[in-house]
Amino acid sequence: MSLRLGDVAPDFSAETTAGPVNFHEWMGDQWTILFSHPADFTPVCTTELGYTAKLKEEFAKRNAKAIAVSVDSLDSHNGWVKDIEETQNVSMNFPIIADPEKKVATLYGMMHPNESEKFTVRSVFIIAPDKKIKLTITYPASTGRNFDEILRVLDSLQLTANYNVATPVNWNEGEDVVIAPSISDEDAKVKFPKGFKTIKPYLRTTPQPNK
Ligand code: BEZ
Repeated sequence: MSLRLGDVAPDFSAETTAGPVNFHEWMGDQWTILFSHPADFTPVCTTELGYTAKLKEEFAKRNAKAIAVSVDSLDSHNGWVKDIEETQNVSMNFPIIADPEKKVATLYGMMHPNESEKFTVRSVFIIAPDKKIKLTITYPASTGRNFDEILRVLDSLQLTANYNVATPVNWNEGEDVVIAPSISDEDAKVKFPKGFKTIKPYLRTTPQPNK
């Protein structure tokens, strides 16, 4: 059965470009972005990993970090890292898991045999510090992901974990949010002292509460 939101992210041990990793230990108390790329020395993956390295500070602001995986060997990863650094003008600053036996890829359902027998699809898992899966995304090999979207989702996940709100369509940090329907108007007046707008009884907006 595939992994679902709320499931505990499976633990594993693996070799990575930053040394051996036990996944849960490596996560510590941070948010983790675990993402697969189909293969080393491929153009889209090269741009994705380079961009992710550039986001290190943005991840750090959110107590988050990234770890990539593909079914290539450690030697292959180490060779490719040089190309990523050269072509994307970055210093690689997060681990890439070597998974030539497809152990991690299989554990996380990253192999989609009707799409490719050999390579993973582009999966993303956002995992909270309690080790529970909070987001999954699956893209085909031919489409590079939008890693700014991953930051946006992290902002939403971290906000909604602490306040009785949800984030509306295309929301970005700093914009108004919606009040959870389970909160009565009376409670909303207390919980959201900046006030709220009632567009429909089920659609109430309020300024982002932690701003
Ligand atoms: C790429 O990263 O460019 C790629 C990888 C596998 C298939 C197609 C494209």
